[in-house]
Amino acid sequence: MSTVYLNGEFLPADQAMISPLDRGFVFGDGVYEVIPVYGRQLFRLGEHLRRLDASLSGVRIDSPHEEREWTHILGDLVARHEAPDQSIYLQITRGVARRDHAFPRATRPTVFAMSSPLSPVSDEVRRNGVAAITLADTRWEYCHLKTISLLPNILLRQEALDRGAAEAILIRNGEITEGAASNLFIVRDDVVMTPPKGPRLLPGITRDLVMELAAAHGIAQRETAITPAELARADEIWLTSSTREILPVTRLDDAAIGGGRPGPMWTRMIALYQEYKREYHADGGRARG
Ligand code: PDD
Repeated sequence: MSTVYLNGEFLPADQAMISPLDRGFVFGDGVYEVIPVYGRQLFRLGEHLRRLDASLSGVRIDSPHEEREWTHILGDLVARHEAPDQSIYLQITRGVARRDHAFPRATRPTVFAMSSPLSPVSDEVRRNGVAAITLADTRWEYCHLKTISLLPNILLRQEALDRGAAEAILIRNGEITEGAASNLFIVRDDVVMTPPKGPRLLPGITRDLVMELAAAHGIAQRETAITPAELARADEIWLTSSTREILPVTRLDDAAIGGGRPGPMWTRMIALYQEYKREYHADGGRARG
């Protein structure tokens, strides 16, 4: 039984108990992070912890730990698992209280973390890419906060799966926002583009790294609004996330993108991404935060 972390203790998952009155269970009142681990090293931990702080303060939960303590807890959790590559899930809820929409007074947040093995994207996906469909973005106006209230995202992703696609690409007010659980990029005439940050999309850690890598290697890149028509005409479409890195989309709403094969810019970017991971690992994750 895998070891998990709950409120200061490491224990087998089947012995970790949370009250049914936890506001995470009753209201979905909490936030989370998903942090990849490569070669047993937390990847871009500083960036994830900064976004965690932004999510916590955005929903007005006092951060239960400082960066040093998080680093210690999560490092300990990683060390208790064998897989070299892991995905760490960290969730913080407002805690246990009598059911009332109003914030409870003086409740201790619940802190839970677990590790799952991180499986690499399959060769089949690398060769052929994935399908995506476009759907109306039915979510709320706080998509920049990584909250555990994910029912809209779940329904959107499931609709994509039911229709034979890997992801739903979301449209709000005539603009693409992001995927149900990923950020979106297009490539057009060798320019890498992604929608600007704001309340309608999550500021993805992978997204930022892709933009950084493009800038560092002289690849033209731009944050810009993307319309559904521009999406359909793109030379390449990518989806990014901590668990799936950079996924090439080769079918959109049943039409081929880029001739139905991952494009040359994706091939270049995924190589830069893997190289960055190796360098990050070699310098112990210290030099680059
Ligand atoms: N989700 N947008 C949404 C709505 C997401 O849920 C995610 C990631 C991203 C990409 O963010 P990042 O690059 O920081 O992983 C964008 C995680 C992986 C999840 O919910 O499992």
